[in-house]
Amino acid sequence: MIKILFIGDIYGKTGRNAVRRFLPIIKEKHDLDLVIANGENSTHGKGMSKKVYDELMDIGVDAFTMGNHFLDKKDIINWVDTVNNVVRPANVGFTTPGKGSIVLDTKKGKVRLTNLIGRIFIKEFDKGNPFDVIDSIIENSEEKIHIIDMHAEATSEKRSLSYYVDGRVSAVLGTHTHIQTADERILAGGTATITDVGFCGAYESVLGINIPGAIEYCKAGYSKNTSPAEGEEEFNGVVLEIDITTGKTKSIKRVNLRPDKNEGI
Ligand SMILES: [Fe+2]
Ligand SMILES: [Fe+2]
Repeated sequence: MIKILFIGDIYGKTGRNAVRRFLPIIKEKHDLDLVIANGENSTHGKGMSKKVYDELMDIGVDAFTMGNHFLDKKDIINWVDTVNNVVRPANVGFTTPGKGSIVLDTKKGKVRLTNLIGRIFIKEFDKGNPFDVIDSIIENSEEKIHIIDMHAEATSEKRSLSYYVDGRVSAVLGTHTHIQTADERILAGGTATITDVGFCGAYESVLGINIPGAIEYCKAGYSKNTSPAEGEEEFNGVVLEIDITTGKTKSIKRVNLRPDKNEGI
């Protein structure tokens, strides 16, 4: 059995502080073999700089997925191909820097990690069909254990993709909406799924953004200030237990932590 923690979108400094605060507590309770996090919002809510990548590696994150914000910090173009533990959506142009699917080494064996982006209600980028792209990735993969971060807005698209690959991958974990959903389950073929893992950031915020700025944006269609909120940290993730011989997931457990709340560990 291999135990993997997947952490929802880390949003700005408060999100990084949440990981710094809660990851050691989770590690105390679970003998984790691999820690994966969505890093697309980890630098001030938009993108991931090399400095923040290094900081999160020091805290104990082993690998990162991205999403629609992966090019927001332009310096990622210079460093993403020099590291071997970051994936950006696989179904964007082949000229885009970075890789969409990678293989990670753990003490329990190899783990494939793939990032996909949905096409419904996400305007950035020219996107290929994630269903076709994942077919070709799976066809060309040898690894039994395969985790997909399906970065998408629509619950329908995330749930559909989960059923589409059921029995062919270990887990399809939704990200992007920053709200943890309570629909985690293991499908008939052994693929774990959750519509959205959630996020790490300020509990009193709108998806990580400061509340007045978010209200102004939603009310008026623009805002002078959509900077990350600060304050009490929230940490969302899931812990997976996967059979290393079959690649099928045996359990998926939501983790939802705040300084005065402890769900899932
Ligand atoms: Fe995000
Ligand atoms: Fe996103």
